[in-house]
Amino acid sequence: MSKFFLTTPIYYVNDKPHIGHAYTTMAADAFARFHRLRGDDVYFLTGTDENSQKNVEAMQKAGDRRLETYLARMAGAWQASWKNLDISLDDFIRTTESRHIQGVERFWRAVEQSGDIVLRDYESWYCTGCEAFKVESDLINGRCPFHPNREIDRLQEKNYFFALSRYREPLLALIDQTDFIQPPERRTEVRNYVADHLADISISREAKKLAVGISVPDDPTQRIYVWFDALLNYMTAVGYGTDEARFARYWPADVHLVGKDIIKFHCALWPAMIMSAAKQDRLLQDKGGLPLLPKQVFVHGFFTIDGQKISKSLGNAIDPKEVADAYGLDPLRYYLLREIPFGEDGDFSRARLGERYTADLGNTLGNLLNRVIAMSRKYADGAVPKVDPETCRQAEGTSQWPGADGLRTLADRVTKAYGSYRADQALALIWDHLVLANKYVQEVEPFKLVKTDKLAAWRVLYGLLEACRWHAWLLAPVMPHVADEMLRQLGVDQAGERANGWTQSLDWGRLVPGTPLPEPRVLFPRIHD
Ligand code: MSP
Repeated sequence: MSKFFLTTPIYYVNDKPHIGHAYTTMAADAFARFHRLRGDDVYFLTGTDENSQKNVEAMQKAGDRRLETYLARMAGAWQASWKNLDISLDDFIRTTESRHIQGVERFWRAVEQSGDIVLRDYESWYCTGCEAFKVESDLINGRCPFHPNREIDRLQEKNYFFALSRYREPLLALIDQTDFIQPPERRTEVRNYVADHLADISISREAKKLAVGISVPDDPTQRIYVWFDALLNYMTAVGYGTDEARFARYWPADVHLVGKDIIKFHCALWPAMIMSAAKQDRLLQDKGGLPLLPKQVFVHGFFTIDGQKISKSLGNAIDPKEVADAYGLDPLRYYLLREIPFGEDGDFSRARLGERYTADLGNTLGNLLNRVIAMSRKYADGAVPKVDPETCRQAEGTSQWPGADGLRTLADRVTKAYGSYRADQALALIWDHLVLANKYVQEVEPFKLVKTDKLAAWRVLYGLLEACRWHAWLLAPVMPHVADEMLRQLGVDQAGERANGWTQSLDWGRLVPGTPLPEPRVLFPRIHD
């Protein structure tokens, strides 16, 4: 069984999750489910980034006094949101946990032993909104372009620096010679930054000026810079510094899913940190002594809401739970993952969600299943027609429906699309096929055919029922509940099928002729929003 370790960013707890955070997490969930269906040993990680000044500011606004209480309450709110959205997490890490702090300390010491940490006097701009240092040329009218409503801080203090600039060449090699950054269009941005702007960075702040942060080992007057600590969650969660065997099993990560806003941290700082620590820490080296870097960072785009940036001041942040309550969890997932090509920017609109709900889900998917089951019940004695599945592989008549071979090709292409994080492509392929299946029904009219050639009509219906079963499996990573309900309506022994897994289930003829079909239930009832 091969392992598959995937992560989302760990989110700040200065607010509760909005639909943008849910987007990354739902996408990760779909890929986690896909790999589980394929039989992989999946480790799906998310969590909360707690050692940030932003969280302290939010606590003060909320009128809370104790940081610990505030952080625990908010981390609980995030966990509850993911539970409500049925996110199939394997782990949720909080960066205030001791398993994390222990790993961070070990890592810091390794980087220090590599000679890449130096103490310097430092003066710089700092934007707490970004939790990042800024140079003059980053600012517009003296403000951070991403947080124009907030004051930018001038810092003048002694800090520890990480010698990031030493890693220019190895980073360029990583970017140019591997698939580390996906999709490839995102490479240029990081490459330009690494080639032209990579500078050593401050990785600590004076403790007296901060209310949160992990102390620098052996120097309690300094606290570790929040990004240096946060990135390490990906290792500490799987046991770095606390559980060697688990770490060896899961590290390196197979993929970090991140939004385009945090690409430089993940694609430059993070691999450089690992390259540095790996010089000293054998846990971070492969058999040949090379650093164990994450295999890939997949960068997705940002979406707006009805054309506008999601922002607190506009008050347009949508609660994913509220949309899921109105349309259903699976339709929301379908919409977000289908509508926005994964990797590109997009827009969320309730009107568009409503359209897709009616057209794609109700009229195309729901209708096909409903008709095919209803006709089988009516014309084939309430059951999966009693025909030899082998005789049903091809379309009857002149249809363009591609039959069993077409489903095989579809399944291979869909598998490839999910495997390269393109759920949008997987869904588009499935829907093209659903459209063909609906056309096939219209064309051959099994309800008429049954009067002249009952066996031919039964073959058609068997083929279509079988197609619905394949579609259910292919949809399952994105729409797990819908898939289960489809399989139930098709009279499939779900536990048995699940035990077989995706690969074996995607095989022609597994629907057993003569199996009683329960009365079909509408999958996507009309919504009055
Ligand atoms: N705490 C850091 C990440 C540390 S990871 C080691 C952080 N947190 S955050 O709470 O600001 O979350 C940012 C992430 O939320 C983005 O990278 C993206 O995954 C997601 N999104 C937030 N708004 C979004 C959109 N409008 N559209 C798409 N994704 C969005 O940064």
